[in-house]
Amino acid sequence: MQSLHEADTIVRNRAMNYFASHQRLWLFGYGSLIYKVDFPFLQRRPAVIRGWERRFWQGSHDHRGTHAAPGRVVTLVESEDALCRGMAFEITPDVFEHLDHREKNGYLREVVDLQFDDGPGEEALVYIAGPDNPAYLGPASEAAIARQIGVSVGPSGPNRDYLLRLAAALRALGALDPHVFALEEALLTQVPSSLTTPQEYGPQPGNKCEQYGERDGR
Ligand code: SIN
Repeated sequence: MQSLHEADTIVRNRAMNYFASHQRLWLFGYGSLIYKVDFPFLQRRPAVIRGWERRFWQGSHDHRGTHAAPGRVVTLVESEDALCRGMAFEITPDVFEHLDHREKNGYLREVVDLQFDDGPGEEALVYIAGPDNPAYLGPASEAAIARQIGVSVGPSGPNRDYLLRLAAALRALGALDPHVFALEEALLTQVPSSLTTPQEYGPQPGNKCEQYGERDGR
């Protein structure tokens, strides 16, 4: 059995050299990378990828939970006819050090084809936490996932902030994501908190690098 420490993907991601000859490349963000842009980028454009759907099936021991009480964050799950809407960022390869650290709890760099909302397609890099990583939690009922998110807190803050910020960012993108919106609804109706309200979670302006260096947020 793998230990959670072995979920650390930094070394494996460093060896992934598919884009090694590129001076610039596209990164597809579908989770916190949409709303917490703590890395420099050249441009960003809304985009979709086909054949994947967003699911709160990955455990978070390092950002939105702890080893004793992991939170839940999103990963992508293969699904033939699905479309996943997110944000594409054009980046330079030096940004990988930061991204690999941020996504180290089970996420591996993978290659996907994306389609920009306003133009043709491109190959892009995406971080996916597959079902064989030790932090993977897999499916559960919406009520159970919402409850777990409602009570989990980690070094990056409450897990509920991750869900509510993501839902707000997807709404701003015009993305219909029944899974995320159902969890948001369950969280707000079944796991009330006086600390957070949906109004606090409008889209974040983001900028090219204002938070770069905040290595542990997500
Ligand atoms: C992503 O946002 O693209 C990866 C998952 C996450 O960092 O939340």
